[in-house]
Amino acid sequence: FYGSAPVERSASFSEINTKDITYFKSILRENNVIQDPDRLQPANTDWMHKYQGSSKLMLLPRTTEEVSHIMRYCNSRHLAIVPQGGNTGLVGGSVPVFDEVIVNVSQMNKIISFDKVSGILVCEAGCILENLESFLDNEGFVMPLDLGAKGSCQIGGNVSTNAGGLRLLLVQHLHENSSVGLEAVSANGTVMDMLGILRKDNTGYDLKHLFIGSEGSLGIVTKVSILTPPKLSATNLAFLACKDYLSCQKLLFKARRKLGEVLSAFEFLDSHAMDAVLNNLEGVRNPLPPAVHNFYVLIETTGSDESYDRERLDTFLFRLMESGLILDGVVAQDINQVSSFWRIREGIPEALMKFGAVYKYDLSLPLEKMYDLVDEMRARLGNPVKVVGYGHLGDSNLHLNITSPQYNDDILAQIEPFVYEWTSKHRGSISAEHGIGLMKANKLYYSKSPEVVQLMVSIKRLMDPNGILNPYKVLPHCLSANN
Ligand code: FAD
Ligand code: MLT
Ligand code: ZN
Repeated sequence: FYGSAPVERSASFSEINTKDITYFKSILRENNVIQDPDRLQPANTDWMHKYQGSSKLMLLPRTTEEVSHIMRYCNSRHLAIVPQGGNTGLVGGSVPVFDEVIVNVSQMNKIISFDKVSGILVCEAGCILENLESFLDNEGFVMPLDLGAKGSCQIGGNVSTNAGGLRLLLVQHLHENSSVGLEAVSANGTVMDMLGILRKDNTGYDLKHLFIGSEGSLGIVTKVSILTPPKLSATNLAFLACKDYLSCQKLLFKARRKLGEVLSAFEFLDSHAMDAVLNNLEGVRNPLPPAVHNFYVLIETTGSDESYDRERLDTFLFRLMESGLILDGVVAQDINQVSSFWRIREGIPEALMKFGAVYKYDLSLPLEKMYDLVDEMRARLGNPVKVVGYGHLGDSNLHLNITSPQYNDDILAQIEPFVYEWTSKHRGSISAEHGIGLMKANKLYYSKSPEVVQLMVSIKRLMDPNGILNPYKVLPHCLSANN
């Protein structure tokens, strides 16, 4: 593992034996009990190739009942579990730390219902986000969530990480979407139905929120319901260049005022991120050749009046070009250009991986301070380490990424705890959207008070007294339920 304090396997957990395998084969289809090392290898490895588990067993349940049987049995046998979806998580939460049983819900991938009047979609947790997007597109609706990993990540994983993504300006955070509901199976196998298909429901504690963002530490999400907005006809995307970070901030301020409710995304990347994409990804071109600019911004508008929205964006951009706030810019003319502009922004994580090791930080910071951290880090680390800044500027969410040919302890020691101390000093969050996972379990105090962490531990102990669900993750290791 890289970047996490060493953690020891908890002696409270049992090891898998042949009787366990026989039991699992009796409740699941035999070929959904995976022991083949070649199939286990990718499930033991995270997307960044930073975390590597050594699980000898992956289970692929097809129904909530199967999940319930698995949990009840594992709880009684003290077998630790890692819930897994698309395994695109970026904080080491989705892979085992040691030999935990991987419970992967990818076979639970059915759309259960879609109500065109209310826009409420109910589906199983293993549905791939992009498949849901295509389904809804055909129905004239959109998924209120979009991320670069959409081709692999699953809705259960999205809910469990409370994923943010590219269009949070347009849609609401999952916690704020009053019609997100879910079904979850707790550590002892109890099925909890919190599938909301009602817009209003004030019947006591709204416990679904415990599962949104709890990263598989409190239960396995098996079904999700979500309110989807109707598709709006007019989408425009501009790719712009700015001379400095201050100009990007001013641009956001003006875009909020002038574009108002149609502003659906505001993303930024620095020249280092742009270089990475242009040099490391096939078929990507700079939309603003030949100059190399310090910063790039993508502005997307989504509305219902095609000609009015376009005119509004054009006027806005024209004025800012005249004033010098934007150095250059282009508005996508067709769907191919739209996807090629988005490819630049969405391709950054993949492009950075081609440099070798990536130290990835996902921070919420006050907008005006955000890029100071990138500059300070660059000065601190010097060459040949690459320090890259990009992210969801509209949400004050910085992705600070540092790359080197291999993971290296000396580089890590220069980054941490500096990056967390800096974030804490500026009252930021050490995890804006990726979660805590294994990577930041011991760093939680930088963003949460001891009292709040203690309450989290109490909830964990209540819901998972044997600590079998995603151990070593989310909570500081010294306070984990199995300690
Ligand atoms: P996994 O990676 O399999 O699991 C993530 C966590 O959720 C783990 O802790 C796991 O135990 C738990 N989990 C998974 N499924 C369940 C379930 N059914 N029940 C209970 N727990 C479960 N994230 C963002 O927020 N915004 C982005 O813009 C974004 N962009 C990304 C771009 C790329 C290229 C990549 C690789 C990742 C990106 N991510 C982003 C991170 C990641 O895709 C999200 O966190 C995503 O929501 C994870 O979904 P998943 O199905 O892959 O979950
Ligand atoms: C993104 O916004 O591209 C994702 O959160 C992934 C990343 O931070 O690398
Ligand atoms: Zn992001």
